[in-house]
Amino acid sequence: MKKSFFYLTLALIGLGMLAASCSSKDESNATAAVSAADATINTIMQRKSVRSYTDSTIAPELMESMLRAAVAAPSGMDVRPWHIVVVTDKSKYDELFAGNFNMEKFKQSAAVVIFCADTTVTRPPREDPNAPAVTSPNPIWRDDMGACTENFLLAAEAYGLGAVWTACYPFHDRMDPVANYLKLPSNIVPYSIVPVGYPNGEFEPKDKWDTTRIHYEMF
Ligand SMILES: Cc1cc2nc3c(=O)[nH]c(=O)nc-3n(C[C@H](O)[C@H](O)[C@H](O)COP(=O)(O)O)c2cc1C
Repeated sequence: MKKSFFYLTLALIGLGMLAASCSSKDESNATAAVSAADATINTIMQRKSVRSYTDSTIAPELMESMLRAAVAAPSGMDVRPWHIVVVTDKSKYDELFAGNFNMEKFKQSAAVVIFCADTTVTRPPREDPNAPAVTSPNPIWRDDMGACTENFLLAAEAYGLGAVWTACYPFHDRMDPVANYLKLPSNIVPYSIVPVGYPNGEFEPKDKWDTTRIHYEMF
């Protein structure tokens, strides 16, 4: 009787300790999740187009990290149509942007990242071999490319870099010089051009919150 009382007491103490450790673990997990969420939301809210850069170059590891973020983007039927070209040789910018007057102001950027899409790629077999095939040309490659470009911009913001999304597709005066310089095959379309570098000055994000654009349940 005494022994069973002892074991019962021991079990209750153990359960109590487990519950205490779980709740403090849950609390610390929750605190960590909230601060990670704050950091993520803050990066999104702070992102802004930056069009003026210092002469500082971007470390290759940083660039790779931003590219990894870019290709972590969602992709319709997981086609992942992207090919990304990073150009850091500023002496090539004139050729890359020949006739693209929009790019004149970005010629001091440390790098120019060109987000290209293979518009003919079909879904390669990945995790789910039974997933439906994607027809070629993929009708939603632009959505994937937008997500990919935005992910890169957010990563740049997180690293304290400045970048701006500039349109390329579907403007031929912007696409053609890029395609010629990079010798892109005909199925590879330059979708967006992102100059990136360390910001030269202070730039503030715009406040775009407008309650008239938010609708609940019905329009
Ligand atoms: C699809 C797209 C194309 C854009 N093209 C250009 C461009 O060609 N040149 C440019 O300076 N900015 C371009 N921008 C940047 C927008 O001008 C900018 O996002 C907008 O003014 C809002 O400012 P923010 O990015 O600071 O929030 C483009 C943005 C998007 C999403």
